Parts: sequence; C-alpha cells; structure tokens
Amino acid sequence: MTRTAYNDCIAIIVGAAMASLTVRNIGEDVKKRLRIRAARHGRSMEEEIRHILASTDSAVPAAHSRAEQDDSRQGQPGAPITGDHAPNAVSRAVGQGTSLAVSHILLVIGGGIAAYKSLDLIRRLKERGAALRVVVSKAAQEFVTPLSIGALAGERAFTDLFDTASEFDVGHIRLARDCDLVIVAPATADLMAKMAHGLADDLASAVLLATDKPILIAPAMNPAMWAHPATVRNLAHLVADGVAVIGPNAGEMAEAGESGFGRMAEPLEIADAAQLLLIHRNKDLPLAGKRVLVTSGPTHEPIDPVRYIANRSSGKQGHAIARAAADAGADVTLVSGPVTLPDPPGVKTIKIESARDMLSEVEQALPVDIAVFAAAVADWRVAEAGAQKIKKDAKGAPRLSLLENPDILATIAHRKTKRPRLVIGFAAETERVIEHAKAKLARKGCDWILANDVSAQSGVMGGDRNIIHVVTAKGVESWPSQTKDDAARMLVERIAAALGTDAL
Ligand code: CTP
Repeated sequence: MTRTAYNDCIAIIVGAAMASLTVRNIGEDVKKRLRIRAARHGRSMEEEIRHILASTDSAVPAAHSRAEQDDSRQGQPGAPITGDHAPNAVSRAVGQGTSLAVSHILLVIGGGIAAYKSLDLIRRLKERGAALRVVVSKAAQEFVTPLSIGALAGERAFTDLFDTASEFDVGHIRLARDCDLVIVAPATADLMAKMAHGLADDLASAVLLATDKPILIAPAMNPAMWAHPATVRNLAHLVADGVAVIGPNAGEMAEAGESGFGRMAEPLEIADAAQLLLIHRNKDLPLAGKRVLVTSGPTHEPIDPVRYIANRSSGKQGHAIARAAADAGADVTLVSGPVTLPDPPGVKTIKIESARDMLSEVEQALPVDIAVFAAAVADWRVAEAGAQKIKKDAKGAPRLSLLENPDILATIAHRKTKRPRLVIGFAAETERVIEHAKAKLARKGCDWILANDVSAQSGVMGGDRNIIHVVTAKGVESWPSQTKDDAARMLVERIAAALGTDAL
C-alpha cells in the first residue's frame, strides 16, 4: 500500500486519537491492502490504522509554511494542528529531565474546569527550570485561586488589568514582553474567540494582544464547542497568525456522559511542546537549522502474522542520539524499529517494523544534512512470510528460506543525489572491532563508523553504557566508557564541530 493510499484512509478518520476508530468511504482496493498489511503484522485492522496514523502524525514536518497550514484538515476538530512556531508533532511522550532553564514563561490560565490541571503544569514547568509568571482570568478564579497559583509559582498571580499596584509594579505590557513564550492553558472557547478577534477587555486578553512572543495554546472545552463552526473559524485564524496549538485530546469530559475531542492536553505534553518551541527558536544552538536523520532499534522480519526474526537491540543509543541532536536545535527525524522506549521529545518519530519499511521511510525523510544509522537492521528476511499462522504438522519444522535485506546505510551513503553531507554508521562487532569497522567504512561508503563491541560480556546490547571508537578516513578516536546519553552528546558535539570547520 502506498503512502497516498494510507493518507486516503487517514483523511477519513476524524478524531481517532484515542476513541474507537470509524472508517468510512474506504475503497475496496485500499481495504484489501489494509487487511493484508494487518495480517502481515499480526494486528487487527483497527490496530493497523492506529499504527499508520501514529507514524503519519509523527511525520508532520517541523516548520509549516502558511500554505501548508491551509491544508484541508487544518482547523478541523480533531485534526493535528501546528502553527508557525509549532513543534513537530505536539502530542508526544514526555522527556523527563529535559530543561527549560533560563526560559521565562508567562502562563495565562483561562476559565474552564481544566484549570485545575494548570496547577500541575506550573509544577512541571518549574521543575524544568522555567521562570514563571501567571495571569489568571476572572473566570479561571472560579476554578482555581490566585493564592494556590501564587504559592506554586513562587510569585503572586496577576489578575486585574486595572490593578494599580500590579500596573505600577509590572504592568500588562511588561508582562506580555518580559518572557520568551506565552502559554494559554486552558484556552477556552471564549479566550480563543477573544484572541482571534483582538479583544482586550481584561488582563488575560490584553496581555495576549500586547505580546510579541510566541504563543502556545492548550484548548479545553466541551466537544460540541470545539466542533462548533465559530471555534473552527477562530482556531484557523489563530493558526494563521502563527499561534501553536497542543491538543486537545479525546476522551471523557469532566461533565458526566460527555466524551470526544476537548480534553486539555496533559501538563507534561504541554511542557514538552513549550520546550520544543523554545528549542526551535534558539538560533544559537550548535545544530540549529540542521536536519538530522537517525535510525534506531531492531527491525522485525515477519515469519507469519505472529512470529518474526529480531535481534537484541534496545534502541537506547539511537534514541539518545536523536534526543541529543534535538536538544542541540536540530530538526530530527527518527526512524525506529519496535522498542519499548518513549519517543524522544522534540523528535519526529516514525515507527516501522521491517528493514524494507525502514529504508522507505529513510528515503522519504531526505534531504537531510546528517544521517546517523544506529539501527540494528536484520540482515535477512523470510522469503515468503506466511499470510496465516504456520501450523505444526506431520511434515515437521518448516524450512525458512531467507533473503538478504537492503543495506540502508550503504544505499544512502552511495546515493548520487540527496546524499547527506555527513553519513555516520555503527559497527556492531563481537571481535576484532576496529579491523571490522575499517572494512565497513570502506564497504558502506559512509564518512564515520562508530564501532562498538557488542559481545555478550561487553553488556552494550540492551545496556546503558557504551565504548565507542570513531573510525574515519583520518584515523581512529577511542572514547571512554560512558552512558549512552553521554556518548550521544559527545557525538553531537563532534558533528557540530565537523560541520563548523567545513571539513566535510
Ligand atoms: N545497516 C543498515 N542496513 C542493513 C544492515 C546494517 O543500514 N541492512 C547499518 C547499521 O545501522 C549500522 C551499519 O550498517 O550503522 C553496520 O551494521 P552491522 O550490523 O554492524 O553490520 P552489517 O552490515 O549487518 O554486517 P555484519 O552483520 O556482517 O557485521
């Protein structure tokens, strides 16, 4: 099935993030191919669609032009939405331990039941090191008190436009400008309407009109209000104005018996999205403006719908590299085989199973400046995977005939067009590590090989530490034993330095 065909399916799935899926108007041909694909992966059709949907959502490009924002799904209830400053895909696994240090954030709390979650959001932003000021709208004070907000934020909450003390002290213009980012959570239908129409009759809306900083809104409202044409129009205005949007998610509402799209994104998701916005705006970071592609994890090669060939790769090193590159300001695409790790924050994560799917996604991610191939790609696949579970019978064990998988690294390194400026591979060796790595460097046509000993006694496969030898045409540099996170950061430093010296 082609990507276009998948997109046909996806386009007719509205609001499918968490609730059960409804697929209508699907062509027989697409349906048939979907069924075959689902069988091949041992999934139900619904699971298969979720899988496709997840990888497509992850593939939303980092920076959308205004034209792209005119995409027919933009502004529709439930469609993934991004603004000019928006992160790659806004609903993501959360990166604990990531930092918002030295960031000044103004949080505007709107008047909805989800305001209670904003208390947790304050904690999440503060634990990442953000300096925080909070504006509480009049309606929000019906749900949360300025006292509790002030206690959590460590500074009194701002409530009134005409509060002389506060105007003298800080003033709404300074509130609007003395920050790096404004977060509106919850963004109620009313507050969104005011923002879209430029109203400024209270402190929250005045600050939002006066700010020249990026704005991230986390809508929260009843599903009927979210789906209302007026909200859809207002949302489209806001997105066109460059406002970034996180959520809303689908699920049960606070009101009994109500469910659908309208739940505010979780505090960790909002903190993550805020961090992404700030990272992508920081032009001083070493990989700012660079596109990086990383492969990670094992691949699974199906034998039949329930069995597969795999290896012991955990994906820890590849995921750490993707995350370190994103933290260094790069626009990162991670193509990952099946792992149990969360998607790294700030990274466009595309999940695949087989080597051939990995190659196809890697090729679609081009052009990139740097490609790091950390995946432990299965070298072979079964020539003919069974469409049904292979049963035991009197003939005994089945004979599996194997075919060699494409070499993804070599394919990309040998490209005549769209070859990344820096192509980096790994060499997983169990003996004569450097010697084999040198041979791989030459054979695969890449620029650097990161050789590591993956023999059982090294504990590298699945472990948290790594010893890497960087093999290039110029020689070998051996790094000390360190965590995979540290090794990833070291690699990113080396990449930035190499790009900076124009040695490539
Ligand atoms: N690689 C790849 N596609 C493959 C096999 C490997 O992209 N089909 C990449 C890996 O991601 C890694 C590098 O090639 O960056 C080396 O992988 P490794 O498993 O060490 O080597 P192989 O090429 O599989 O060779 P061998 O198994 O003989 O060591």
